Amino acid sequence: MEQWEQVPDQLAEQGWVVCENWLEGPVVSALAEEARQRWEAGRFRQASIGRGHQEQQQVRIRGDQIDWWHPDQVTVAQQAYLRRLEELRELLNRHLYLSLITQEAHYALYPPQTCYQRHLDRFQDAPERTVSTVFYLNSDWHAEEGGQLRLHLAGDTQDLLPSWNRLVLFRSADIEHEVLPATRERLSITGWLRCRSALPIPVVHEVV
Ligand code: OGA
Ligand code: MN
Repeated sequence: MEQWEQVPDQLAEQGWVVCENWLEGPVVSALAEEARQRWEAGRFRQASIGRGHQEQQQVRIRGDQIDWWHPDQVTVAQQAYLRRLEELRELLNRHLYLSLITQEAHYALYPPQTCYQRHLDRFQDAPERTVSTVFYLNSDWHAEEGGQLRLHLAGDTQDLLPSWNRLVLFRSADIEHEVLPATRERLSITGWLRCRSALPIPVVHEVV
């Protein structure tokens, strides 16, 4: 990737970064092929957005189906992806004094016309998610086909196409975003670089 060294500063200053041609071509192909095979094999599950919603509503709010990567069943292609992300994790820790310690990732497939409405990735019950990472596996994607990742920034929006071999990073805690509906299937790897969950600040009672 070009300009690799600018990634930490961009992430800190602007809150999001795009890295083009992030992996070697054959690895991207292997990941796309693996995801399709797992889809065919019925391993994907409807993604959820928490409790208390009707199934119907959930699919309207979040339409992707996902297949989590399991640390004890990592494939060769996944290993190559995770190794690259590991370099990024170390770079961010070094330059931004973060303490990112783990990663998590899943394949995601949005069937045509499905979306993910505006949201934040850091939920109340998952404060460890610090940097969101989305890597796209769609060749020849055109703007007319929709499917943009729309970032909601202060007074502005930024639309990014889910293009082949493109990695998008953004701060999980404060960048609201959404996935627009597309006219074709949209395949990606979504993940997070995570911090250890913050310890509560102890309350000190003064003795009087
Ligand atoms: C998510 C998400 C964005 C994308 O899975 O939480 O926002 O572009 N994905 O797929
Ligand atoms: Mn998200």
